[in-house]
Parts: sequence; structure tokens; C-alpha cells
Amino acid sequence: MPRSIRFGGAQYVRGCRACAFGVDGSYALVVRLAFMAQVSGYPPIIILKDDVDASQGIGQIISNINACEQVVEVLHSTLGPRGMDKLIQGSDGKVTISNDGATILRVLEVVHPAARLLADIAKSQDEEVGDGTTSVVLLAGELLRQAKGFLEDGVHPRVIIYAYREAHRMISERLKQIAVDVSGQLKVLRADPERVSTEEREAARALLQRCAGTALNSKLIAQYREFFAGIAVDAVLALDDDLDLDMIGVKKVNGGSVTDSCLVAGVGFKKTFSYAGFEQQPKKIHQPKILLLNLELELKSEKENAEVRVQSAAAYQQIVDAEWNIIYEKLEKIVATGARVVLSRLAIGDLATQYFADRGVFCAGRVPDADLQRVARAVGARVQTTVHDMRVEEALGTCEWFEERQVGAERFNFFTGCKEARSATILLRGGSEQFLDETERSLHDAIMIVRRTLKYPELVAGGGAVEMELSKFLRERSRHIQGKAQLLLAAYGKALETIPRTLCENAGFDATDLLNKLRAKHATSDENLWFGANLETGEPQDCWQNYVWEPVLIRANAFASATEAACTILSIDETLKTETSDKNDAIR
Ligand SMILES: Nc1ncnc2c1ncn2[C@@H]1O[C@H](COP(=O)(O)OP(=O)(O)OP(=O)(O)O)[C@@H](O)[C@H]1O
Ligand SMILES: [Mg+2]
Repeated sequence: MPRSIRFGGAQYVRGCRACAFGVDGSYALVVRLAFMAQVSGYPPIIILKDDVDASQGIGQIISNINACEQVVEVLHSTLGPRGMDKLIQGSDGKVTISNDGATILRVLEVVHPAARLLADIAKSQDEEVGDGTTSVVLLAGELLRQAKGFLEDGVHPRVIIYAYREAHRMISERLKQIAVDVSGQLKVLRADPERVSTEEREAARALLQRCAGTALNSKLIAQYREFFAGIAVDAVLALDDDLDLDMIGVKKVNGGSVTDSCLVAGVGFKKTFSYAGFEQQPKKIHQPKILLLNLELELKSEKENAEVRVQSAAAYQQIVDAEWNIIYEKLEKIVATGARVVLSRLAIGDLATQYFADRGVFCAGRVPDADLQRVARAVGARVQTTVHDMRVEEALGTCEWFEERQVGAERFNFFTGCKEARSATILLRGGSEQFLDETERSLHDAIMIVRRTLKYPELVAGGGAVEMELSKFLRERSRHIQGKAQLLLAAYGKALETIPRTLCENAGFDATDLLNKLRAKHATSDENLWFGANLETGEPQDCWQNYVWEPVLIRANAFASATEAACTILSIDETLKTETSDKNDAIR
């Protein structure tokens, strides 16, 4: 039976509104009027299909908030240096161990349409700044939790949204005021090395290392944070001024100890599959000319079921010869360019391998595209799709050294001393695959932090210090405002405290006690600006003095995304689900 709803005085009957939620959360609405029935003298209009479930009003907003709280619950225990890790077995059976908020939410495949928003902000935080993905979800969740009370008391969602946006504007201004500008110290890293003293360079490097160290503090590899922070800083400093992330390759090699991991100043990739004849090729070449191809150098077998009728053995020989001539012509042209290293994205067969070996040329086929592109940019070569009419000068690149080397149980090809674009390859060593995967993700956070700090050289202190300061600031400001906004600004301030509170809870200390002490510290003097949680003792500490440094960008981005996500969820007062979307949705 079609269900009826009141709408603007007339009676409409739900019957055939087809509504589809896209993967990105957007939804397309197709309204089809189907038939009319007689109710109270007016012809009712069928809008929704029978199977469409529509929930509306404050109840729906609160239901969405509850779903978000479930997501927050999952991440709650992972925040901070004392946070726990999660082991997740995905639908494909792959096991992931991670502490990274964005990774956990990605692997969990959240399906609730509102809760997915939180997964999306974690993803965007990861792409934008790399770190702070857990914080952004916790903040959004807490903003919503605070809003829930107001909604239940009858405050209109629009009033809450307006106040939250206003609060965010205020803390953004305050954040700008308190951020510590370190551009002066970092300038030396890009200056002419002759005019900079070693001490100045080392001080700038140490500053970046501290920021990377804070990001690594909460990861599985926290005990090696100095070591990996050093690698992350060196990798980024090895790049050109554009700090292109694509020019850093991370290669995982099973086995060995974690501290065997190292940085190679150049491009490197795992040796590809090779045919007989490969052993005779040179494995170390000084200033080689390098040719990169997107071309198959292999004798082609006939297509299945191809039929060629020949009348004589000579005619058959001609066909075979034609094939060989084609490939020999290509090989001759390649060797004539003077290239000593030939890489191709496609296969290089046994004939070509032997041909190159006889002429002292190194070759590798089936090189992964990302690696080939990195080599192309680093050595200044252009990937060729044909060897005919090649402009040799433009096509070939060069570097100081090409070398094939053993790393653990694997062989690697390295190109070092590249002049065209600087690049770096990090070789990660470690026992298990899951450990290596998590190490790679953690390093990604650290590398992003270093890049961001170099681009936007302003820092704040972590450990909840910045959140406590902004919370205090909002509370003070709210006292001068009349009306409901006063309470809402204070609620926003309270939500900010979720970061120090969770850090403390995860470390096993009494959060209420520590927060009281921190509030008192921040209230008494502006000098206590950077007081946050000491997770060793459970007491307040000056996080700036103790080098818990973070780029202001992480925090600014997290506050902006969390506010936006919370406001979006508060503004959705109706969810429509068709039967099809229901099948995909586990959580309501
Ligand atoms: N030594 C430390 N003392 C106190 N707090 C610290 C320390 N090191 C890091 N923190 C704090 O830990 C928090 C970061 O924790 P964590 O790395 O688990 O989450 P995230 O950065 O928000 O998300 P993710 O790293 O998963 O993307 C930050 O608030 C940071 O200031
Ligand atoms: Mg982090």
C-alpha cells in the first residue's frame, strides 16, 4: 500500500520517488508522478516508491550523529603516542595493521551515508597534509556530540551551524596569531651552501626532524622515530624546490632489520624479470646514455587460429625472416643511438636481451610505469613509443652512475647523480609484510609533514596544547556574546578539549584531573600558552620546550574539515533510501 504524507496542506502519497545514492554521497533524485487516488476530495500525488525509506527531522539528524559516534569509537583508542593499533582483515582477506585514521576507515569500508563523510574528511586530510587524520575525525565527532544535546533541547540546527562556523572563524584568527614563524631558520636550507654555516644547516634540519618525529611518535615504528625522521627529512631535502612527492620512491624489501632501511639519492627499482643473456650485461656503468621505451622487443607469436598458406619452404622462410628483420631493425636502431641502458615498460624478450648483452648494453623490460616516469624525469629522457625517426638528443637521458646492486634477497637497479631532477628512493627493510606496509604509511605522514613545513613554515605545539589554548580563547570570547551562541561557542571550545582528553585517556591517566590542571595553566598566564599533556607522567608540560612540534597547517586543516563535516551532517534532515541502496548499507 502506498503510504501518505502531509505536504503543504495537500495530501501526497509516497509511491514512486526513485532515489539513488552515488558512491560519493551525492544523490540524484528522479521524481515520477505515477497515479492519483482520491483522498479527501483532492487527488493525492504518488511521489515515492513503496520500497523507499525516508526518515526526516531532528530524529534523523540525531540518528546520523549516532552513526558518526560509532566511527569515532573505532578511532578513539588510536590517538597519540600511547594509542593502540588496529588489526583489520578486509573483505579480500588481506590483513592490515595500522594506527593511521585514514587507513583504518578506508579498510573498514564504512557504508552509512552520513558516517562516510567522516571517512571522507580523513581521506582528504591525508591527501592534503598527510597527518592528523585521527584528530580530524575525533574533532568532528565531538562537535556533533556536543550539538546533540542542543538539538534535543530544541535548538534549531541552523543556529548551531552558524555558531560553529563563527567559532571556527575565531579560532582560525587566533591560530594565526599564536603560530610560531620559523621561515627564518628554514631559509638556510634553500640558500647557497657556500654562504650558510654547517651549524645553521644542522639547526634547520633538526627543526624539520622534530616535526617529523612528532608525527612518527604515535606509530608502530615510534621507537625508531629519530632514525626514520632523519630519512624523511633527507629524502625531502634531496628533492628540487617543487618538492614533488612523486620523486620519492619507497621500496619495501622483506627481511633484515628495520635499521637496515636506507635512503638512496636517486631512482631505484626492483630488478625486473630477465631472460638468458642478462648475466653477461654490464651491471655498473659510468655516465651511461639512457633510452626509455614503451615498446615490445620480443618476437611475436602468430595470432591464434591465424592461417597462412605457403606453397614452398622458401616462402615459409621468407615469413620467418620478415619477423626477425623487423626486430633486428629495431635493435640496430637502438644500439646506434649510443644508449648503454635501455628500459621498457613492455617486455624485452630473450633475443633482444642476448643482442644487447653482446654489445655491452644493459636492458630491463616490464619496468613499472611509475618507476619509468621517475627515471625519465630524473635523467632527462623522454619515453619513446617507436624507434623510427627518433630525435636522439631529446630522447636520451643520462646520470652519473647506473648500477645493479643486491639489497637483502633482491636485486635493485639504481640511477644516481641525476642532474635533471633530483629524486630519492627509500629502501625499507623489516620482518613482516604488514609491518613494512605500516612503516611505509608512517613514513608517508612524516614526509608530508616535512614538505608542508618547508612550504608553510609555521609551527604550533602538539600534545593538546594548541587545542587547550583555543578552547580557552573561545570560552573567553563567548562570555561577551549574548544569546544561544554563547553556549554554542563554549560547546565548540569543549569539543576541542577532546584531543588532550583522548591523548590522556589512551595513556591511562586521569583525563579530568589533567584537563583541570591544563585549564588552570592556560588561564593564569599567556606564558603558559604551549602547555599540553605529558604522556609519561600525566602532568602538564610545556610542549614547545619539549619539542612536540607540529606544522600549524595540520591543525588549521583539521579544524576546518571537522567544522565543515559537522555542519554538513547537522544540515541533513532527511535521508531517502531505495531498496537497492539499503542492500549495500549495513548500518542505518
Ligand atoms: N610526545 C608527545 N607528547 C604528547 N603528545 C604527543 C606527542 N607526540 C605526538 N603527540 C600528539 O599526538 C597526536 C597525534 O596522534 P596520532 O598521530 O595518533 O593521530 P593523528 O596525527 O591525528 O592521525 P594519524 O597520524 O592517524 O593521521 C597529536 O595531537 C600530537 O600532538
Ligand atoms: Mg599522526
